[in-house]
Amino acid sequence: MNDRRRFLAQAALSAGALAIPRGWASDPSDPRADAGARVVSTWDFGVGANQAAWKHLSTGASALDAVEQGARWAESELCNPTVGRCGNPDRDGVLTLDASIMDGDGRCGAVAAIEDIDHPISVARLVMEKTPHVMLVGEGAQQFAMAQGFRKRRLLTPEAEQAWREWRARAEYQPQINAERSVRPGNKDNHDTLGMLAIDRNGRLAGACTTSGMAWKMHGRVGDSPIVGAGLYVDNEVGAATASGVGEEMIRNAASFLVVELMRQGRAPADACREAIERVVRKRPEASKSLQVCFLALNRHGEVGAFALHAGFEYAVCDAKKQDVLHASGSIYGGGA
Ligand code: GLY
Repeated sequence: MNDRRRFLAQAALSAGALAIPRGWASDPSDPRADAGARVVSTWDFGVGANQAAWKHLSTGASALDAVEQGARWAESELCNPTVGRCGNPDRDGVLTLDASIMDGDGRCGAVAAIEDIDHPISVARLVMEKTPHVMLVGEGAQQFAMAQGFRKRRLLTPEAEQAWREWRARAEYQPQINAERSVRPGNKDNHDTLGMLAIDRNGRLAGACTTSGMAWKMHGRVGDSPIVGAGLYVDNEVGAATASGVGEEMIRNAASFLVVELMRQGRAPADACREAIERVVRKRPEASKSLQVCFLALNRHGEVGAFALHAGFEYAVCDAKKQDVLHASGSIYGGGA
């Protein structure tokens, strides 16, 4: 975790957190599991996003409103090189953003490869609410956003531009391998999407997913985050799932949909995530050794679970009683995360 993110997570936690036993949220026999509204997010920076969502959830707002607000926090406040306006650009130096939003009734909206527009998650919601479509991409998404009152502004930060210049000076083009040689592609320092899932006091589910995607990707590359069923899936009858990591693997496996369908068959959230990770490994055993894929799931009873390909995946949980960052219950390579 870099210093800024450690600071944000710790500051957020110390502003009211109660320590809770690791893993409680995955235990379906825990009576607190059905205590009501809850929001969960990928990675440690999900603490701040959860708090932004909780402000709304705790006052009776819908899960849909809450996840939009949580994702907006990540897009603007977090200043993370993999989400929103502080994201790293593609190999041509262009910052493109992807986002999706979905509720448990199957309503969904998404934007992909949108440029120069803050808060792609809110554009995604407007796609859902104001158009007959599910996804708008690129220039069309930008035009739609402007027609809805968004202003075009250059988002690329000087830091991201400098990082891109440094990468360009040294890189051969293999973004999945050398986007960051020091860290595994898809891990938290390299395109770690914010995926957020919430259940409101009426038991209704929603999810949001937002990212700048893989640093130094090909111009036009779209990952899993804006693809319903890959980076995000929500169904009030069952639960919700979201993903972080190398999006190509989630798309290949319709992974978030798979996690929800496994829960429909009776799996607990962590078990469903683990089975989906095993599917990723079976499809591409060699590739899976060197890239990260992580799933987070929330079922309709409020139970939470997570699993990753490699150790290190964390997620943030927030409800009326507590907020914390928990480790995924396990990983294929590296065991307990
Ligand atoms: N998971 C985000 C991406 O691959 O773009």
